[in-house]
Amino acid sequence: MAGRIPQHFIDELIARADIVEVIGARVPLKKAGREYKANCPFHDEKTPSFTVSPDKQFFHCFGCGAHGTALGFLIDYDHADFVEAVEELASIVGIEVPREENATADRRSLDLFDVMDKASAFYYEQLKHDRRAQAYLRRRNVSGETARDYRIGYAPDSWDAILRQLGDGEHKRQQLVDTGLTMRRDDGREYDRFRDRVIFPIRDARGRTVGFGGRVLDKGEPKYLNSPETVLFHKGKELYGLFEARRALRQIDRLLVVEGYMDVVALAEHGVRYAVATLGTATTPEHLKRLFRVCPEVIFCFDGDQAGRKAAWRALENALGELREGRQIRFLFLPDGEDPDSMIGSEGREAFELRLSGATPLSEFLLQTLCTQTDLDSVDGRARLAELARPLLGRVPEGIYKDLLVDHLATAVGMPGERLTTHLAVAKDSPRRRTANPSATRPARSSLLRRAITLLMHHPKAAAGLDYDNQLETLEIRGIGIFLELLEECKNAPNISTAMVLERWRGRPEMDALARLAAQESLVSDEAAARELQDTIAKMVEESRPRLKTAQLLEKAADGTISEEEKSELQNLLSRRTGTAQPGTK
Ligand code: UTP
Ligand code: MN
Repeated sequence: MAGRIPQHFIDELIARADIVEVIGARVPLKKAGREYKANCPFHDEKTPSFTVSPDKQFFHCFGCGAHGTALGFLIDYDHADFVEAVEELASIVGIEVPREENATADRRSLDLFDVMDKASAFYYEQLKHDRRAQAYLRRRNVSGETARDYRIGYAPDSWDAILRQLGDGEHKRQQLVDTGLTMRRDDGREYDRFRDRVIFPIRDARGRTVGFGGRVLDKGEPKYLNSPETVLFHKGKELYGLFEARRALRQIDRLLVVEGYMDVVALAEHGVRYAVATLGTATTPEHLKRLFRVCPEVIFCFDGDQAGRKAAWRALENALGELREGRQIRFLFLPDGEDPDSMIGSEGREAFELRLSGATPLSEFLLQTLCTQTDLDSVDGRARLAELARPLLGRVPEGIYKDLLVDHLATAVGMPGERLTTHLAVAKDSPRRRTANPSATRPARSSLLRRAITLLMHHPKAAAGLDYDNQLETLEIRGIGIFLELLEECKNAPNISTAMVLERWRGRPEMDALARLAAQESLVSDEAAARELQDTIAKMVEESRPRLKTAQLLEKAADGTISEEEKSELQNLLSRRTGTAQPGTK
């Protein structure tokens, strides 16, 4: 839709903006030493643990873990998307946002929004004139008020109602085709897509109508007809009811993800106004990103039957990459044959919300499902569980959440967390799985590397004087690629700041982990940092030798091809690894 915003502009924006000013305009800040403090705007607290660092141009809350750049703050605080936040920050700084594409495409889609809005108004109006559609909604216990909130409408039983209403002239008829409101036949003539259906408008975060869902009143196929994918409408991105939830509630603590339009509407009718529906698709990571931008907890609601469990598992798989501290995902399974609509209709809001409060945490559901596939009483079974868990855990970003998840699993299999971690990192891997999930075969992560990345995040200018040879590239340390990329970035931009580095990683899975490292307090000066970085790299090269050997030997041991001699060498290596403290951690 909108043209891409060039990276150099983001750099400039971050360089010019002052995070203290941006946040200070929204949250009262108090100076404390070199930093500023406030009560955290992202969670409830009495004593301030929200800190803004002018040096790093970065904020961090020691209470809830929220963190980010000025841009990140605007996204979280204003519930803005990236482009909106860039525009806001640009207007604060007083510069124009350039686009890499010309503006005509933008203008064209703006016109299409207008067409969709007119269509929505038309359908809404038609509902007032159609007794049958009204009776249908009444039968489904939808009040006039709820119909208004969701702008529910009716598409008349006609082949050309919308065509006659909005299709005046060739240009407008083309717009109707482009928005999917009409379809064009081979002979070039068009007809209405939605006929004799109850219409549910799908609105984007800003309330603009981007698509429709239409339900048959009686029997008929398909039960629900949806807008096709258009320039405005992407099924994998939109969530039905999110705009309405945000409009109805001042603060959203949790969001409930259900399957159907009618589920969202029925829940709202009963006062549960925080439900959203995916549009006949599985929940995508994109969906989750949007949900977590609004609130810290997401509950998925599914049928309790086999199909529901399967759908829930798919949702879990898609959610793994979005897990991190401060976020919670739970699963609610309804009794067989029920959906949220029927459920809340029969038991009411209170009982339904009681169910919600008992929903299963993701870690629990993960474990339950894996346990049904293994026998935990046997050693083999436990090893197998670890094996099943490995590709899944591989998708979870590094961090506290992941550590806790591993601990949880370790308790279940009766293995110390550390051992499970080793097991997860280097256990025997079939070649098939190896290609399917490359992250699973990565060697263990080095705490030295973590130290090096942290130093670089805090003192990006230290990269400039660094002397390292290409030896680094051959190290088999998990995450070394990230470090090398960071080094390059920092070397090539001598005036780079922590916030600028971070913004270059926006949209990539590593950004969050990097931000977390940036949030830690830096204990060294700029000059000392350069020296320490150099030192850390040298140690890393040194350290990775036995690590590599250990991984090789463990793999051999798992394959059963290890010799007696190698066995004792492995023993030796392993005891050395656990016996000495990890160097470089502080
Ligand atoms: P369901 O078939 O479970 O229907 O579809 P429902 O939501 O309970 O609807 P009611 O109560 O019979 O009115 C769930 C969702 O799957 C998508 C729609 O998004 C629907 O809300 N769907 C279903 C379609 O897109 N097309 C269909 O033909 C059926
Ligand atoms: Mn239903």
